[in-house]
Amino acid sequence: MQAFKGLPLFACTMLSSIQSFLRRFTARSLLPKVVPIRTLKAKHRPLVLHHLLQLNDADRFLRFGYLANDAQITRYVEKLDFTRDEVFGVFNRRLQLIAMAHLGYGATPQADAEFGVSVLKSARGLGLGARLFARAGMHARNRNVKTMCIHALTQNSAMLKIAINAGARVVYYGTEAEAYLQLPAPAMDTRLAQRLEQRFADADYFLKKQWLRASGGR
Ligand SMILES: CC(C)(COP(=O)(O)OP(=O)(O)OC[C@H]1O[C@@H](n2cnc3c(N)ncnc32)[C@H](O)[C@@H]1OP(=O)(O)O)[C@@H](O)C(=O)NCCC(=O)NCCS
Repeated sequence: MQAFKGLPLFACTMLSSIQSFLRRFTARSLLPKVVPIRTLKAKHRPLVLHHLLQLNDADRFLRFGYLANDAQITRYVEKLDFTRDEVFGVFNRRLQLIAMAHLGYGATPQADAEFGVSVLKSARGLGLGARLFARAGMHARNRNVKTMCIHALTQNSAMLKIAINAGARVVYYGTEAEAYLQLPAPAMDTRLAQRLEQRFADADYFLKKQWLRASGGR
């Protein structure tokens, strides 16, 4: 808005929306076909916490279904089970966790796997949420899980769009919605893709780390 100083408010708002759309549109078209998404481990817990604490009140409400305060988010992160469940992350070149998803598995493959995701404001609209959803779906499928489900508020158009675009069936209950994505049986290529994508993400992380060190970042 600072750039449009002196213009009437409606003109500032309109120009700022156009600017934001163009930035996202350009950035999205530049986003590589394969986004390096890492499977996170327990050692990444502090990064996960830092990521979630950056969400503002509105996003916390959308992500957790209630207005989670810092203490509640801290407890949630402490309880994350990186062995039973899967946590995925996207890192920028400064190795900040800009997007992450949690895929909670049930006791058996017959139980639904539950998906939750968050993308930092600065990285939204680039397709990261959809990529994380696709990645989680592939991992769940490779574990023989039949259904991946998402609890979302009805107002959460972005989340519901991601689910619907992927072919999920959405059931609405007033202000809340549940989306169910049926997963096909695992195949050799999906298992191979999972391994290759993990290696690619690990290599990308390693290179970013080297670059950061070389540039005196960390
Ligand atoms: C929901 C969220 C993860 C989406 O992440 P994202 O990376 O911005 O999403 P994508 O860029 O992959 O966009 C996915 C789709 O939603 C659409 N979309 C994005 N923001 C939107 C908005 N505010 N309103 C309507 N649609 C929107 C996109 O256009 C895209 O659809 P398209 O491919 O048909 O064009 C992100 O907004 C977020 O972190 N929200 C707070 C936490 C949350 O709501 N989590 C989900 C509940 S578990």
